[in-house]
Amino acid sequence: MSYQNIVVTKEGSTGIVQLNRPNALNALNFALMAELVKAFEELDNDQEIRVIILTGSERAFAAGADIKEMSQAGPVDLILGRRFELWDRLRRISKPIIAAISGYCLGGGNELAMNCDIIIATETASFGQPEINVGIMPGAGATQRLTRAIGKYRAMEMILTGRPITAAEARQIGLVNRIVPAESLMVEAKKIANEISSKPAISIRAAKEAILKAQDTTLEVGLEFERKSFYTLFATDDSKEGMKAFLEKRKPVFKGK
Ligand code: CAA
Repeated sequence: MSYQNIVVTKEGSTGIVQLNRPNALNALNFALMAELVKAFEELDNDQEIRVIILTGSERAFAAGADIKEMSQAGPVDLILGRRFELWDRLRRISKPIIAAISGYCLGGGNELAMNCDIIIATETASFGQPEINVGIMPGAGATQRLTRAIGKYRAMEMILTGRPITAAEARQIGLVNRIVPAESLMVEAKKIANEISSKPAISIRAAKEAILKAQDTTLEVGLEFERKSFYTLFATDDSKEGMKAFLEKRKPVFKGK
């Protein structure tokens, strides 16, 4: 399937989606978001794919929602356009998504990064929620996800001032897993993807689901959810194989079943 605003490739068990609107610093217009969600869902359903990497260009991961497109909209257009249904579908991707970020990661771009599960960045990356500067506020999750990721006070500062932070600051406050040299961004992302791909697929899926639960439920409910997932994994062939291989002092051969 060919897309206008993204490029999708597959390398072994990794699906790579690159945002590709260079003239608008990968601003997230409706067409791009629709393609992105479609590509993610296809990769999520693809049995050969275990992990997805999302990246942009060297200059920009994404500079936010498309302001030109948004400037024409009224609240009724936003409601009837059902834009955020696309974001809701992003949330339901079951495979791990690694964001590999260089350059601007702003507004909806940062919200898109926070929809991913692991974030790696180059030293040149900058992260921000500048919506306040154009008279609005974050609308694709930042008031919730950023606050959960970095805490109330830092989220307040980023969202109320609109001032971006450097990759080093983002790393320090827990918004970024690790910083890598620009030339090895994709190499490192693929290394992490391969490491995750080598693990039992059903455990990976269940663990991602349980970690995401921690973001929106009580400890009691989350622990119960975790326990049920843990019990369920004892029904998989991979759990038998994993424990047997350990006892036989050999490497496990996982089949994803
Ligand atoms: N929407 C639409 N177009 C954008 C864009 C955006 N968010 N960001 C950049 N562009 C376009 C520019 O209009 C420009 O296009 P033209 O060449 O046709 O004029 C092109 O990309 C290059 O941008 P600049 O010339 O501005 O590049 P720069 O290096 O001088 O500045 C920047 C880079 C600091 C990122 C600046 O472009 C900028 O501030 N962009 C807007 C960032 C922003 O406010 N994002 C939040 C959007 S709102 C949102 O995301 C809502 C939400 O939560 C869902």
